[in-house]
Amino acid sequence: MDGNGRWAEQRGLPRTDGHTAGEQALFEVLDGADELGVGWFTVYAFSTENWRRPVEEVEFLLRFNEEIMLGRQEELHERNIRIRFIGRRDRRVPRRLVRRMEEAVALTRDNTGLTFTIAFNYGGRAELVDAVQRIVDAGTKRVSEKTIARNLYDPEMPDPDLVIRTSGEYRVSNFLLWELAYSELVFSEALWPDFGRQHLYTAIKEFQDRDRRYGGIVDPGESIG
Ligand code: FPP
Repeated sequence: MDGNGRWAEQRGLPRTDGHTAGEQALFEVLDGADELGVGWFTVYAFSTENWRRPVEEVEFLLRFNEEIMLGRQEELHERNIRIRFIGRRDRRVPRRLVRRMEEAVALTRDNTGLTFTIAFNYGGRAELVDAVQRIVDAGTKRVSEKTIARNLYDPEMPDPDLVIRTSGEYRVSNFLLWELAYSELVFSEALWPDFGRQHLYTAIKEFQDRDRRYGGIVDPGESIG
């Protein structure tokens, strides 16, 4: 959800107003994805690098995420959406926010619709470090790709088919490093608060026109063997 700060700066507003506008975009795009029947929808809400921002912005984002959880969980629950989190639970994440996250997860645990995963205090490298640490702690001697995958923050989360990066930046920025090995990447010039349902449709259309070969010659979906 990149470009909130620039969206606000372009309007002479504080950066935090960009995040507030980003909330509207998020729930508009989530609606669009849900209507299309997307099963798993993951957003990068706060990265392990975002702690380096000015303290006022960090504090705003922590409170903002808590308020979104409080304000939206009932509505998401009524829509049969399952909420999950990926990321590191270190001491910097306030206990109250962790409790809110746990409440939202517990409330929506048995829902069978779209899974809405929020990457919070998330970093792809941190996820791999944490996975390796767990494997070492368990005394595992032989490690396979499955061992790593089973020790990621959410072992049930499928690898994403499509990753969308907004705001004209062409980087992965430490997002889902293991999981996006074969994802299709779509880049949009739109700043996140301007990204809407139509942009989602355009990105999905671009995804559908791609030829996915996973290192082989044909898409496994078309393969005969
Ligand atoms: C990046 O824009 C955006 C963020 C750091 C936060 C976005 C978070 C939300 C919209 C709320 C999500 C919350 C939940 C609970 C799902 P930026 O500040 O990096 O923009 P810039 O690159 O223009 O500076």
